[in-house]
Amino acid sequence: MYPDHRPRRLRTTPAMRRLVAETTTTPRNLVLPMFVAEGLSDPRPIAAMPGVVQHTQDTLVRAAHDAVAAGVGGLMLFGVPERRDATGSGADDPDGVLNRALAALRSEFGDDTVIMADTCLDEFTDHGHCGVLSRDANGRERIDNDLTVQRYVDMALAQAEAGAHVVSPSGMMDGQVGAIRSALDAANFRHTSVLAYSAKYASALYGPFREAVGSTLVGDRKTYQQDPANAREALRETRLDLAEGADMVMVKPAMLYLDVLREVAAEATVPVAAYQVSGEYAMISAAAANGWIDRDAMILESFTAIRRAGADIVLTYWAAEAAAILR
Ligand code: PBG
Repeated sequence: MYPDHRPRRLRTTPAMRRLVAETTTTPRNLVLPMFVAEGLSDPRPIAAMPGVVQHTQDTLVRAAHDAVAAGVGGLMLFGVPERRDATGSGADDPDGVLNRALAALRSEFGDDTVIMADTCLDEFTDHGHCGVLSRDANGRERIDNDLTVQRYVDMALAQAEAGAHVVSPSGMMDGQVGAIRSALDAANFRHTSVLAYSAKYASALYGPFREAVGSTLVGDRKTYQQDPANAREALRETRLDLAEGADMVMVKPAMLYLDVLREVAAEATVPVAAYQVSGEYAMISAAAANGWIDRDAMILESFTAIRRAGADIVLTYWAAEAAAILR
């Protein structure tokens, strides 16, 4: 008899396929990144991310309600301030756009969802870098690692104070997780968690995000974000973040970095997140808008791939919409 083995038997019916599926995605696995901007009277669409907007404080709360009702696991907040300066002083101002939004969401939802804050300066600095600049001994302007970490500490404390359950350092400065953890503990925020963007690559896929936050960056982030050529470095970064006390780690972007995600997931003893970034969203949206791919099938397959590679949590701009479909 030929063939001896018939793997197709396990694919014969939808019920059989459902029974043997190894990977599933449920709404609680999805986290919705949201943008809140200062000085808007109405939400402002982001051209390269159809369906995603910069929210006002009011529309943010409404959209958050929809996402939470759909069952998403959490919300990740980004702020778009009206004014920016060299040190990103809006980032740790309790009246700054992001901290006000965090406070509003926490008072609205209490502990009914997980409120996460992006802890990074790039939206708040006038030069658009994720850190502050200084001159080294040779007079060259650099992103100053240690001064930047101090700013992240101030920002994380302000976010914890505002009510964030999770602070998420995403600037790839050395020592950022440990410094934030000890400052949170010292200020009696021992229950505020740290989600470390451990393996964050200098990716072309962040293009639409720069529009989303009105980034003023000139140049690139290659002196702090990882080189796409390197996988080993991701393990080093992850180990350091775990040693410094990260409660969760993240790989970013997701779909072009599934190999890295798998290795990080094998290494990590904490929950692993992956960020399906703006460029991933834009590419799928654009192809679907042209009728070149099946949009919903593509979105669900992308989640399956990211989860199969090892992500417990997927940050995606489709979180609310997909959660409603998955329920
Ligand atoms: C930094 C940050 C960025 C993104 C998330 N956090 C931008 C960057 O590193 O340039 C990108 C997310 C996306 O592209 O969807 N605050």
